[in-house]
Amino acid sequence: MDAYDLWAAVYDTDGNVLQQLDDLYVDAQLPYLLPPGSSLMIAEFGCGTGRNTIKLARRGAQVLAVDYSQGMLGKLKGKAKEKNVEDRIHVYQQDLALFPKGPDGTDSGFKQALDRSYSGGVDGVVSTLVIEHLDINLFFAAVKAILKPEGWLLLTNMHADMGAISSAGFLDPETGKKIKPASINHPEQEILEAAGKYGFVLRGEVSEDGPRDAEHAKQFGKRAVKWIGIKMHIGMVLKLRY
Ligand SMILES: C[S@@+](CC[C@H](N)C(=O)[O-])C[C@H]1O[C@@H](n2cnc3c(N)ncnc32)[C@H](O)[C@@H]1O
Repeated sequence: MDAYDLWAAVYDTDGNVLQQLDDLYVDAQLPYLLPPGSSLMIAEFGCGTGRNTIKLARRGAQVLAVDYSQGMLGKLKGKAKEKNVEDRIHVYQQDLALFPKGPDGTDSGFKQALDRSYSGGVDGVVSTLVIEHLDINLFFAAVKAILKPEGWLLLTNMHADMGAISSAGFLDPETGKKIKPASINHPEQEILEAAGKYGFVLRGEVSEDGPRDAEHAKQFGKRAVKWIGIKMHIGMVLKLRY
């Protein structure tokens, strides 16, 4: 079983500081990217349990929610039903490292759906806290392949300062063992260079965030204390050049 299939059981409840920083950044961007009444078609790469997927659907977007973990997708489906946004969330199991293929080497279900219904490309791609698990060039190639010209990419990740001393992981409540999916540290410069190579330009500024001091850390709970003074989160909005 993949590490994320195991993590799915506690992913939404283990007091993860990075997810809280991510909520702050994403919630600040969505009003601009998805203004009321915009009804955009969005693909989310590495949607996980739907922490951001539900927000996108609630803002009226149709979301193609993509992840390779059956466990994470199972949680997302439950939440979509509970929040009554099932009709706006279309779930695809896809290993992004293989896109546009599936594990059997033929076009994946996600690729076939894109060709059938969204061959002109989607309006936006969202990917939060995922690229530490991916080759950066493969990632941008896949985003470019499905995005409309002038479409946008909302991208967040673990900051390289945090990545230099840590990586995504969780304490398995069943065994008490720390489980860590494979991780690659991507410094800002590397992300921006790869983005430029695939035709993306930065819109606005790159955001870098983490608990600044003891007072600021309080809002993120006990697990934030050890990260005081360290940048944990990076976020940016990129646009695909026409
Ligand atoms: C840290 S979680 C982030 C989930 C969600 N985006 C969020 O911000 O809460 C990383 C997600 O990326 C997914 N993932 C990692 N590698 C992947 C790959 N090669 N293809 C598809 N999904 C992948 C994992 O299954 C997991 O759901």
